[in-house]
Amino acid sequence: MKVYQKLTSDTTQATESCAEEEAADGKPLCIQKLSTWWLGGGLLTVAVLLSGVTVWVLGQVWWVWHEHGTPEKCSSVPESLRFDCYPERNVVVTQELCESRGCCFMESDRPWDSRGGLPWCFYSPDFPSYALESLNQTELGLKGLLTRKVKTYYPRDIEKLQLSAEFETDTRLHIKITDSRSPRYEVPLEVPRVRKRAENPTYTLEFSKEPFGLVVKRRSSGTVLMNTTVAPLIFTDQFLQISTTLPSKFLYGLGEHRGSFLHSLDWSTLTFWARDVPPTESYNLYGVHPFYLVMEEGGAAHGVFLLNSNAMEVALQPAPALTWRTIGGILDFYIFLGPDPNLVVQQYQQVIGFPAMPPFWGLGFHLCRWGYETSNMTWQTVKAMRNYRIPQDTQWNDIDYMEGYRDFTVDPERFNTLPQMVEDLQKHGQYYVMILDPGISSTHPPGSYWPYDEGLRRGIFINSTQGKPLIGQVWPGLTAFPDFSNLDTHQWWLENLNLFYKHVPFDGIWIDMNEPSDFMDGSTEGCSPEELDNPPYVPAVLGGSLFAKTICPSAKQSASTHYNLHNLYGLMEAKATASALIKIREKRPFVISRSTFPSQGRYSGHWLGDNRSEKKDMYWSIPGLLSFSLFGIPLVGADICGFSGSTSEELCTRWMQLGAFYPFSRNHNTQNEKAQDPTAFSPAARTAMKEALLTRYGLLPFLYTLFHRAHLQGDTVARPLFFEFPQDEATYSIDRQFLWGRSLLVTPVLESGADSVIGYFPRGVWYDYYTGSPVNSSGENLKTAAPLDHINVHVREGTILPTQTPGLSSWVSSGNPLRLIAALSQSASAWGDLFWDDGESLDTFERGDYSYLVFNVTQNTFTSTVLHSNVEATYITVDTLAVYGVREQPKTVTVNGKETPFSYLENQVLTVTALDLGLSQGFSIRWL
Ligand code: NOJ
Repeated sequence: MKVYQKLTSDTTQATESCAEEEAADGKPLCIQKLSTWWLGGGLLTVAVLLSGVTVWVLGQVWWVWHEHGTPEKCSSVPESLRFDCYPERNVVVTQELCESRGCCFMESDRPWDSRGGLPWCFYSPDFPSYALESLNQTELGLKGLLTRKVKTYYPRDIEKLQLSAEFETDTRLHIKITDSRSPRYEVPLEVPRVRKRAENPTYTLEFSKEPFGLVVKRRSSGTVLMNTTVAPLIFTDQFLQISTTLPSKFLYGLGEHRGSFLHSLDWSTLTFWARDVPPTESYNLYGVHPFYLVMEEGGAAHGVFLLNSNAMEVALQPAPALTWRTIGGILDFYIFLGPDPNLVVQQYQQVIGFPAMPPFWGLGFHLCRWGYETSNMTWQTVKAMRNYRIPQDTQWNDIDYMEGYRDFTVDPERFNTLPQMVEDLQKHGQYYVMILDPGISSTHPPGSYWPYDEGLRRGIFINSTQGKPLIGQVWPGLTAFPDFSNLDTHQWWLENLNLFYKHVPFDGIWIDMNEPSDFMDGSTEGCSPEELDNPPYVPAVLGGSLFAKTICPSAKQSASTHYNLHNLYGLMEAKATASALIKIREKRPFVISRSTFPSQGRYSGHWLGDNRSEKKDMYWSIPGLLSFSLFGIPLVGADICGFSGSTSEELCTRWMQLGAFYPFSRNHNTQNEKAQDPTAFSPAARTAMKEALLTRYGLLPFLYTLFHRAHLQGDTVARPLFFEFPQDEATYSIDRQFLWGRSLLVTPVLESGADSVIGYFPRGVWYDYYTGSPVNSSGENLKTAAPLDHINVHVREGTILPTQTPGLSSWVSSGNPLRLIAALSQSASAWGDLFWDDGESLDTFERGDYSYLVFNVTQNTFTSTVLHSNVEATYITVDTLAVYGVREQPKTVTVNGKETPFSYLENQVLTVTALDLGLSQGFSIRWL
């Protein structure tokens, strides 16, 4: 029976058909034509037939069908494997509607609601799909043709699809399904060019011919990572759908959404369409990241990226399984085999690009609020921070600096001293960042507002279908929206920034409202009734339409329609902004963006938007950080102390402590709320906040090195615990704690009225960061003291942290002596590193203008080895070495062979001070 095909990544006879019985390596060569659940039904039927009560059973089946109208092919589908055939919201799906689609209708006790739920209308196993007509070898893999004979219930089925599978690297498989006859929209991401097919892929790829499906397995374990045979493939012009099983319920990523880090697979739907809205569970939010990571049994991980920018949704169900639904573009999947979760995220970033190296000052503390009202009030806050000696690197202004909320203007009265304030900041080694919104005011008489006049003249605005600039409404009133998919717009943006810079020499730019947000639905003229604005299927977006609080999808941009480009708006604006900053300042750009898309990390960081001053929002910031770590945007943080609502002293203290460990640390507040910067609180709270910031500033060399590793190879900065302990399933759901890199465990207090905190400590020794006292954990929850002036931070055994005497700004800190902390493993060894450069020049790593040191402890000897050095390393010294976990009091300590005084405490901490060692020279310190 030669009906099935199996093609693995190493198959040479790609089009060979094979029989079900054929075997290779003792394993069946062909996968089943029908999926397991269908097969299960078949086997059951056979068993029943064999039982000798055939007549009775047939009678029963007939009776059941006759009485209840449910064909056996429908009832054989287990609940968890029901794939929704009627995902439309706001439609009460009746049996009639469902069957008009050729699907199975079965009511259940579990209610179906607008957010998902067990579908009552689902695909039968024989629902028509595509057939794989041919499959041929290509240089990089395989190319096939898929055909559909029976139309679906959405308009414009694409009857012939081209399938390509490229074995790009041993750990990366690229699968693309698109119209075989005419081109469709593809996201213009600069993905790596692969010239040679992978030699030893760690995956296999198999196909089911009819109905078409593909199965990806991990070669080493046989784990099925993807199996799309479980539901029909649908590929129409504006509705594309593909489902797959997942090997476990441990699923992460798929942002931007609010919720726990580990997704629930209990029939939830995640929607992707950039949207301005205070983060709320189940809403589509500011950014779009169609990437997920799954932990498999045994601790291996894989990731899947769908490179598609259209409005989409992902339905999750307990099988475990997942369905991608997008309303445009193509199905362009990258599958990353890890197998370590850190590697999965690195492999993802090899495709989307590694994040930019931020300036050193970008890692300092940022202070912002909406509603400073005047430049003098802003300046007063900076001065108060200085008076209280609280670290601060950057002062920000929100839209209130502008005249009439218009970009590139400064209110001449309220903000008349802004240039002087910026000058003062820069004199103090501090920095200035201001907000810019994309909406350009369109209501001024010609000649009175250059950005609009010139934008009109150059034709850089997004046009409506009528060919005129689309007009919406944002803070300044009616506005046009720059089309950042057009390079002329980048030039116009640069010229505007250049003019503004002459007046206010800013250091970084905050780009907000770039979903783009529109206070109207669509435009002053609404949107068209056409299918771009009202597609046959609208994912479950907030507001029910694609133009809810944004511009019309039918609007015309230079690269395509807004329908295709909407989710890319923030990315394209960030690209224009980073490039303008480089041209203007000739230094590393600092950009923070609200809307983001894969590859954003190359141009900007992100803050998590308009949170509230509530403790649950403080908690949610951690899953937020961790998700953006997965998305390759390590420079991420939430508004510390909460944006809207009124913070309390206790909440703000706890939040400042947690926020001191956000990779991007900014306190920001909405207008009309009382001040929440550290100077606004009692001496006790102020001091606790200051201490937390000093701890951060002390750790800047370590944090900077983590960012270097992110830039170099896509390491995460804020890291989920399971990335370091993938064998320990207890870590899989942890999102109230996180790591910095591999070494530092942060356990914040997220509750009110607490003076202790319970946190999970993976197996091993963890040292209190501040005192060096060891905690020996068997992999358990431990309670630690957490008075209001303290945040628990622990150093992992076997690691070395470069820290620095903190200053009140990163500029001051960066000249201070280093204190190295070596936290010994149980075998008395440790490892760490340090990347160091001038903190602001462009491409220092790429140009070789940096220092890189590796620290080691073995056999009671700490060694610093300089692997690369530049002049920067000659400016600082190592003053102190603290070794945590020295079991016995040493008799002598020598530095480069010379005996030196030391101290040793009962908690097994050895400290050597006043070292005065040049960082650019290697050295060794030995204790005996
Ligand atoms: C919305 C932003 O999310 C918020 O941070 C900002 O303060 C306001 N826009 C005003 O610009």
